[in-house]
Amino acid sequence: LKTEALEKIEVASDMKSLQDVRVSYLGKKGPITEVLRGMGKLSAEERPKVGQLANEVRDEIKAHVEAKEAKLEQEAVEKQLAEESIDVTLPGRPTQVGTSHPLTDVVEELEDIFTGLGFSVAEGPEVEVDYYNFEALNLPKDHPARDMQDSFYFTEELLLRTHTSPVQARTMEQHEGKGPVKVICPGKVFRRDDDDATHSHQFMQIEGLYVDEKVRMSDLKGVLESFAKSFFGEDRSIRLRPSFFPFTEPSVEVDVSCGICNGEGCRICKQSGWIEVLGSGMVHPRVLEMSGFDPAKYSGFAFGMGVERLAMLKYDIDDIRHFYTNDVRFLKQFTRA
Ligand code: PHE
Repeated sequence: LKTEALEKIEVASDMKSLQDVRVSYLGKKGPITEVLRGMGKLSAEERPKVGQLANEVRDEIKAHVEAKEAKLEQEAVEKQLAEESIDVTLPGRPTQVGTSHPLTDVVEELEDIFTGLGFSVAEGPEVEVDYYNFEALNLPKDHPARDMQDSFYFTEELLLRTHTSPVQARTMEQHEGKGPVKVICPGKVFRRDDDDATHSHQFMQIEGLYVDEKVRMSDLKGVLESFAKSFFGEDRSIRLRPSFFPFTEPSVEVDVSCGICNGEGCRICKQSGWIEVLGSGMVHPRVLEMSGFDPAKYSGFAFGMGVERLAMLKYDIDDIRHFYTNDVRFLKQFTRA
């Protein structure tokens, strides 16, 4: 019986079968209990011998079960350790790092270009008063050209700025009639447009303003040509077309040439070879005057350009809404080195 039991303990490969073996030999209904129970029927001589033997067998089986139990537990722990072991020599998983937004990149690039040309950076409020957004720019109330920029009004006097030109007026005021003033003003602007591939009710502009004695249109042309070459490439040139803005006279629209087109990047200007990028002109004498500059002594130029449009042209992006929906698959393509 003992050999049989020990053999079964030996082959028991898990806790469950080991417990079954234990119960079948040592349990209440097991053979040893039965022997011990039947002791009454034995003679007085036999009783101690049989009792001793039965106890020995029971203790031995019990000891083996316990030893096997310990062994199985140890094996289980070893198995778990082997399976869950950490390989410290593996390289770490990279964490996701945020990137700067493509519009931020473009604004910073433009700031670099224009500070290189002697401009400094000025800012103004996004919630603007009617006076700076329109009146100080030669757009009195009821002026029909106000319709060019459909506006978000809070009250009759307060609105979201429709362009960055109010910063021109604010900056000139701060200079108290003394030149030179040479600033660019990047920032968000807002218009009541329906959003589509080329329109967004919120977008960014960069304004430029240079006021000093004897600033001429050729200065404007030189600055813009230099900008176009730095931003789009040395093979580009610009052309000016007559236009109208209430705050500049004369006013021009500025086109950039498409450069050498060999592939996808030029699809936007396939037709004419030129693409419109900004509005500009010589600061209107009345605008100078309203902001405290003597138009007999001072002259200046101003320009304003849409940042998204520049980015779309440079990187061949076909929908302005990509900048504002924040799809990481789009944003990741602009990771700076
Ligand atoms: N403010 C004009 C616009 O938003 C652009 C512009 C700026 C034109 C400066 C001329 C001079 O359309």
